[in-house]
Amino acid sequence: MNDPRAERLRRLPPYLYMEIRRKTREAQARGIDVISLGVGDPDRPTPDHIISALVEAAGKPENHRYPTDEEKGMRAFRESVAGWYGRRFGVDLDPDGEVVALIGSKEGNHHLALAVLDPGDVAIIPDPGYPAYLASAIFAGAEVVRVPLRPENDFVLDINDLGDELGRRARLLWLSYPNNPTTAVVDVPFFERVVAWARRNDVVVVNDNPYSEIAFDGVRIPSILEADGARDVAIEFNSLSKPYNMTGWRIGMAVGNRELVGAIAQVKENTDSGVFNAVQYAGIAALDGPQDAIAANLEVYRRRRDLVVDTLRSVGLALDRPKATFYGWAPIPPGLGSIEYAGRLLDLTGVVVTPGIGYGQMGEGYVRLSLSVPDARLAEAMDRLSSARHELAALPATAAG
Ligand SMILES: Cc1ncc(COP(=O)(O)O)c(C=O)c1O
Repeated sequence: MNDPRAERLRRLPPYLYMEIRRKTREAQARGIDVISLGVGDPDRPTPDHIISALVEAAGKPENHRYPTDEEKGMRAFRESVAGWYGRRFGVDLDPDGEVVALIGSKEGNHHLALAVLDPGDVAIIPDPGYPAYLASAIFAGAEVVRVPLRPENDFVLDINDLGDELGRRARLLWLSYPNNPTTAVVDVPFFERVVAWARRNDVVVVNDNPYSEIAFDGVRIPSILEADGARDVAIEFNSLSKPYNMTGWRIGMAVGNRELVGAIAQVKENTDSGVFNAVQYAGIAALDGPQDAIAANLEVYRRRRDLVVDTLRSVGLALDRPKATFYGWAPIPPGLGSIEYAGRLLDLTGVVVTPGIGYGQMGEGYVRLSLSVPDARLAEAMDRLSSARHELAALPATAAG
């Protein structure tokens, strides 16, 4: 059979981690104990009270049927989301019109693209950026314009790079702060500048915000909905995945502009049938229940962050100490591409990191490390890096030779 894939699948960029995957398998076949710092997926368990809520709800036959109020999520879940947004961000949400339950924020990004982008519409995606935005825009047939996130601007989008000319052409702008992969954070005045630009140019803005609860050293992460006028143009995705260690459960939420929330619900009505009621009850337990798991996670990630930053600096990778997310975004020495660097690092130490080019051209020159691995494994990974410090320092010269 000829390649059966639709054009939209063939338009996706080649899978840049393939080389690392291949090397990982080779190393494992040689008996090397590979430690992957490649994936952002909390290693700590979901808190017990959330699991208990699932178990109880899963035992009730009424929850075995299609989810209640399927396209928007259960009203009780939407009320919990509204309560949480009120407590956390001081943002008042109408649970009936401004909230929809999601199968994780990744689903929201994808369905937003289908909901607002016609073929040929311009979607603006920061570079570097979470790869799912690009895939979602391509699936919708959009024309993608990448705008740079520059290190000299602390990876905060420069509003001058948007401009009104691009604004007039664009339909959708993706933002994600706190940012994966760069770990950058922004404040409400930043969102206000973007919202003013978007209102002037009639552009939809999304802030994908699943790391809102993962911030250190007293840094406060805002919602885009705190910005004046945001509800005219903006939608935000958040998720229970990261704060409550629930990546596998697949539950999150879209909040904000009514038309956008309604459009996503309309796509969902015709695509999936929503989130298992029992998982939504667990979500309610997470949002309404004790929040101490978040503080406990933060303490663990902060400790790991400091270990990783200090170790990387000692082997010559001068990364900033992240203010948020559970990643490190480390500049690599000049002279090596990020895929090649990650490959050499794996050969030398058995440690896997993600090449920055996987997030866009502007990610070249960086690698991303995840802190979501158990303490002992992370400590072992850092020990191996320290032991290989001389070889690591010599890497670019080796490449040139
Ligand atoms: C920026 C960003 N958005 C969305 C997701 C997906 O999150 P969820 O589990 O809520 O779908 C991730 C996961 O790594 C992410 O980094």
